[in-house]
Amino acid sequence: VPGSATGVPVYCSRDWIWSILKDYKKERRIDVNVLEEVKKYREYAVAMRREFHRHPELSWQETETAARIRRELDEMGIPYEEVVGTGTIATLKGKKDHPVIGLRCDIDALPIKEVKELPYRSENDGVMHACGHDGHISMLLTAAKVLSDHRDELNCTVKLIFQPAEEKTNGALKMLETGRVGHLDTVCGMHIFPFLDAGTISVDPGPRYTSAAFMNITIKGRSGHGAMPHYAVDPIYVGAKVVDALQSIASRETNAMDTVVVSICTFHSGTMANIFAETAELSGTVRTFNPELRKQLPGMIERIIKSTCEAYRADYEFDYYCDIPATINDEHCSEIAAGSVKKLLGEEGLVKYAGTPGGEDFSYFLERFPGVYAFVGCRNESKGCSYSLHHERFDLDEDALVNGAAFYVQYLLDAQEQF
Ligand code: NI
Repeated sequence: VPGSATGVPVYCSRDWIWSILKDYKKERRIDVNVLEEVKKYREYAVAMRREFHRHPELSWQETETAARIRRELDEMGIPYEEVVGTGTIATLKGKKDHPVIGLRCDIDALPIKEVKELPYRSENDGVMHACGHDGHISMLLTAAKVLSDHRDELNCTVKLIFQPAEEKTNGALKMLETGRVGHLDTVCGMHIFPFLDAGTISVDPGPRYTSAAFMNITIKGRSGHGAMPHYAVDPIYVGAKVVDALQSIASRETNAMDTVVVSICTFHSGTMANIFAETAELSGTVRTFNPELRKQLPGMIERIIKSTCEAYRADYEFDYYCDIPATINDEHCSEIAAGSVKKLLGEEGLVKYAGTPGGEDFSYFLERFPGVYAFVGCRNESKGCSYSLHHERFDLDEDALVNGAAFYVQYLLDAQEQF
């Protein structure tokens, strides 16, 4: 060792340095093959997923789901607290209090009638786990089992976050606003992803999902006889001009390099072929990856509605709501996660996937803490698992459950050395 505190060179043997380094690494690392550890619980993961699949519950109604999650945590001896009713935050303390690492899943289902004949088909008619959140709960519980087995070896504190109401996009924010989540040094979330083959995972840095906002527009005209438009203010005509003009935001007002979607998806007005209606009701959705644009878009949209209505003598009401941020992966966390995926599934298991329109309220976690959101491939045509999320025939290759659970664990082990 050249250069001691006194400035006099100190020499020591290479073996001695190695032995110190080895001890140091032993202290820092858990020497487990994560995939093998998780595979021990494969049956558990599948059974849990099927049980949640049979008993889906809508956003904010996940009472039985939450109770079942808590029973499992009780059995594992992991303490937890109830948050916002159907949310649960469990805390698994390792040898060290810090870093604190959050692993999050969502737990709600959708108002969809399941069509596919499955032995574990939904028993709650008209409600279905068509977004794979049954798999998400199973993966986080399975990860909890493995982490619980190795709790004495963990150099961090783990927060297991079971979040309600992702589909209504307000569960995450409600949980965070309680302050019960506390500070997280890093956080990891994931989605079962039928656009990628089972056996692959994407953890690309940067934008994963766009922001997502919704809007209601009422065009207020003046009703009258269809033969005498000069006595009326036709809200359909004005509404049509608004729909048309709003498209200029994406095509003429914003940078072509930015993703911007402004969609009017409903337009209701009128009762009969010779009556001008009093009002027209429009609604739509707005998406972008750019956080600055996200702030500017409501203003741009309202300016167009206002000026168009003024030009044609109409009035309006504008309601812009549920404006969730884009889901953006932290670069450093993505890098750690890429290493984790490669350890589990090899080079070929790590795939790239461009960001996608669609919202995810995990974005509120990523706004506050550095973290990563993974797309866990679950597509397998030979098993009939090729339908999109939110499809009445959606199903997942259950091999993906092991990969997702293993990814939670491996990311945690890799991240605890970095924060
Ligand atoms: Ni989902």
